[in-house]
Amino acid sequence: MIRTVEWRDNAVVLIDQRLLPEREVYRVYRDYRKLAQAIRDMVVRGAPAIGVTAAFGIALGMMQARRDPEATFARICETFASTRPTAVNLFWAIARMQKRFAATRGAGLAAVRAAMLAEAQAIYEEDRAANRALGHFGAKLLPRRVRVLTHCNAGALATAGYGTALGVIRAAREQGKEVSVLATETRPFLQGARLTAWELVRDGVPVTLITDNMAADRMRRGEVDCVIVGADRIAANGDVANKIGTYGLAVLARAHRLPFYVAAPLSTLDRECPSGEDIVIEERPPEEVTHCGGRRVAPAEVAVANPAFDVTPARFVSALITERGVIRAPYRQQIQRLFRAHERVR
Ligand code: MRU
Repeated sequence: MIRTVEWRDNAVVLIDQRLLPEREVYRVYRDYRKLAQAIRDMVVRGAPAIGVTAAFGIALGMMQARRDPEATFARICETFASTRPTAVNLFWAIARMQKRFAATRGAGLAAVRAAMLAEAQAIYEEDRAANRALGHFGAKLLPRRVRVLTHCNAGALATAGYGTALGVIRAAREQGKEVSVLATETRPFLQGARLTAWELVRDGVPVTLITDNMAADRMRRGEVDCVIVGADRIAANGDVANKIGTYGLAVLARAHRLPFYVAAPLSTLDRECPSGEDIVIEERPPEEVTHCGGRRVAPAEVAVANPAFDVTPARFVSALITERGVIRAPYRQQIQRLFRAHERVR
């Protein structure tokens, strides 16, 4: 089992994803500010994993709190909210912690700390369960033999465990399906080459690594049956923000008449966000583009664009795979229906 993020002995433990696949190093955080910096630096990344880490980070910050819990709590939440802007799971997790904090009004610091840790643990467990459930629903969409193209890393490393897009692949294999994977390397940060390839090789899943610009050719040759990706934020109309390059793959899938599936828990759906136009796209440092493996590959003077995500319009999405089932267009209505059913059950 890959341990992406964990609470252990009053500390948060992260596998340092920047060092994979060469080295498996676990870092122990006892200071919430350093943990927030770890999110910024991509020690941990992937929308659900960021949310879970922030929840544990808030619990950790409250362990450090000595006086004025209200002000301390607000400061900790602000610190995590300012780490990365696009993945809504981060803001969703902070909102859950805020709600739980508000419910402890009048309680002593020990009770507040216990409540914060309990809520963070619940967020962690729920994410693992959601991935299992959406994996099960998504796997049913796949034929007995299937070649899946995936982008970035939407695996155990991007979540509390099991993964979203890779969760669907894992579940399909558990259902006895023959699944092979084409993983795009995902420039500039190489989440596909470093992380998805590592996870799948470790699990014994047949995986072929391709550079991002090989996807069209593989599709034209008939070597891809469907595309499955994760998401950082899904707007109320079904537009999907995900790792830069996702939109291109969606357009290619449409041109080759291939299903384009997005696998994500409900914590990635942002009902407050009307459309993809309203999603803030993070701009990452230029060095991620000008350098490769720590070595400069572009002239020092060149201008660089480095948006970490793009937006795929809902019309390119064949289906959204969630822990409450699979939905198809019209997404606005289907997303509302999904939440209504979810809230009734809760
Ligand atoms: O910049 P990253 O590595 O945090 O981006 C991650 C992605 O884009 C993933 O596809 C997304 O978070 C879904 S993870 C289940």
